Amino acid sequence: MPSLLDPIDLRGLRCPNRVFMAPLTRQRASQPGDLPGELQAEHYAQRASYGLLIAEATWITEEGKGYPNTPGVRTPEQVAGWRIVTDRVHAAGGRIFLQLWHVGRVSHCEYQPGGGAPVSSAAVASKAMITLVRADGTRERVPATLPRALRTDEMPRVVEDYAHAARNAKAAGFDGVEVHAANSYLINQFLSGSLNRRDDAWGGSVENRLRLLLEATHAAAEAFGYARVGVRLSPMGSVTDLPPADDDREVYVRAARELGRAGCAYLHLFNHFWGERGWEGPFDLALAQEMKREFGGPVVMNGYGRDVAAAQHDLDRGLADAVAFGKLAISNPDLPERIARGAGLAAWDESTFYASGAAGYNDYARMK
Ligand SMILES: Cc1cc2nc3c(=O)[nH]c(=O)nc-3n(C[C@H](O)[C@H](O)[C@H](O)COP(=O)(O)O)c2cc1C
Repeated sequence: MPSLLDPIDLRGLRCPNRVFMAPLTRQRASQPGDLPGELQAEHYAQRASYGLLIAEATWITEEGKGYPNTPGVRTPEQVAGWRIVTDRVHAAGGRIFLQLWHVGRVSHCEYQPGGGAPVSSAAVASKAMITLVRADGTRERVPATLPRALRTDEMPRVVEDYAHAARNAKAAGFDGVEVHAANSYLINQFLSGSLNRRDDAWGGSVENRLRLLLEATHAAAEAFGYARVGVRLSPMGSVTDLPPADDDREVYVRAARELGRAGCAYLHLFNHFWGERGWEGPFDLALAQEMKREFGGPVVMNGYGRDVAAAQHDLDRGLADAVAFGKLAISNPDLPERIARGAGLAAWDESTFYASGAAGYNDYARMK
């Protein structure tokens, strides 16, 4: 079985190791304009030795935004900002995908164009609390705004938003994109049997609920080819505010099968071991195994906290082909080298996860 440090071929993209950087929202886009730039370029370039960098969730359209100071990939200025990032990463020898994000109902009218309602598969409020930043810089947490259900005739436009974002990501120099279909955001809201009881072609049956995922992925593939489009799913529940449904298992197994058939770069599964309390589950080993079998291509697993041995164990038992580290990537810009040398791992500082500037972002030291 491979080691974390062995190279992996992602359907033609050669990655020098299997230690990937998970997508991490850090809310440091510059204003006005939600722009990435030099700050992000330095951050990702510092981490260029990871097998693959999956850059932070990035809104594809204003309607898809729900968090402060998160970057977009919609405007020419944002594309130019991302170009600075990808150039720096490539100059440092790295590979970088962009995570395409539409939050759906996990938003607030203050983020929406014209102050309107956020959109979703159904007009049911998210239980998420939304962070607003006031003009004086203070932060406030408020309940998500009641969304409206997207109309059937709007769905092609939503799919086009993914296509547009993927074209922009390509123009910005990314090696590929990851479709964010996890963590209770828009695509997850369409997959969900507990929420999406629409009676049009985009809801109700499992086949219909899969439609937005598959069409958005196809739209991204029009720009990159399927071999450069990964998909992130969170089939194991828990941090999401979407209640479980009886047919979740069928949805996720079918998603894996369809995405594998299309030839996606990888399937990225977030296991939700989230947090400091260790393995928080619920981890469904049989479901993960079945999805891997059905997908038939590279599977990236995530959710190990600081437990590198557990990640290697998933490679050993054939559950994962590569792993993505989130919090460890925040505090260890040279994680692959640290693993290679058996060196200690630096601890992360949660107080600077979502902050501004380089502190807690670009000042984590490399090993001596
Ligand atoms: C600060 C922070 C920001 C995150 N942002 C994103 C994101 O933009 N997109 C996403 O899919 N997951 C996001 N996540 C989840 C992580 O990608 C990852 O799934 C989670 O941290 C568990 O992995 P870990 O145990 O290696 O940290 C975020 C997590 C943290 C802690």
